[in-house]
Amino acid sequence: MKIIAGNWKMNGSFQNLQQMIKDLSDIDTQNTVILAVPYTMLCTDSGKISLSAQDISAHTHGAYTGEVSASMVASTGAKYTIIGHSECRQYHGDTNASVCTKAELAISNGLIPIICIGETMEEKQAGKTLEIIESGLRESVPANVTSGIIIAYEPRWAIGAGITPTTDEIAHAHELIANVLSDMGLDGTPILYGASVKGSNAEQIMSIPHVDGVLVGGASLKSDDFIPIITSVK
Ligand code: 13P
Repeated sequence: MKIIAGNWKMNGSFQNLQQMIKDLSDIDTQNTVILAVPYTMLCTDSGKISLSAQDISAHTHGAYTGEVSASMVASTGAKYTIIGHSECRQYHGDTNASVCTKAELAISNGLIPIICIGETMEEKQAGKTLEIIESGLRESVPANVTSGIIIAYEPRWAIGAGITPTTDEIAHAHELIANVLSDMGLDGTPILYGASVKGSNAEQIMSIPHVDGVLVGGASLKSDDFIPIITSVK
């Protein structure tokens, strides 16, 4: 059983979501299917899909125009929120420290944070991939947490690029993540791989040790692309 999570980013509409819920209503799968949609599409009646936000505020409430808090997301019935996605780190100034704060707020409001970590192309070229992954984990995951989180490894240079790391690179990264999580007392935490996952590579990627599922961007927008990923593994 794997976790198949889609991230719609700033795409789609409420009508598209209703259609996706309908298209997925009769697929035969034991996998957990999550869809991270824009705040405006979070709703209670999402059928087989569990909904997720794509980010939350680092504040509980107050004068933060445009922001949405963890408790607001939880009140929609959503079960998850992505935190620290590379685009939030790049465009909204998220750092490991703010991601850690957001993860604490998510957990205290009953949400499961999907905490994203991963290296840029510059960091990869400088040979810093494993260092960035380890510091990302140790600094983004709240110290007192013992369960109830998901980690997503998203090599930032491969997102939306149509290229994926080699099987060996993914295997090394996920093995390191599993070892660091174990050292942090977080054995068994699901680890997702994200970046350029599609129907043609999903099964192979999810056969790599310590890959417990995938976080899918572009290929989660249409059911014709998303369903083959969901059904590629049992
Ligand atoms: P792509 O699948 O489009 O590369 O996006 C990955 C991603 O950022 C998911 O969060």
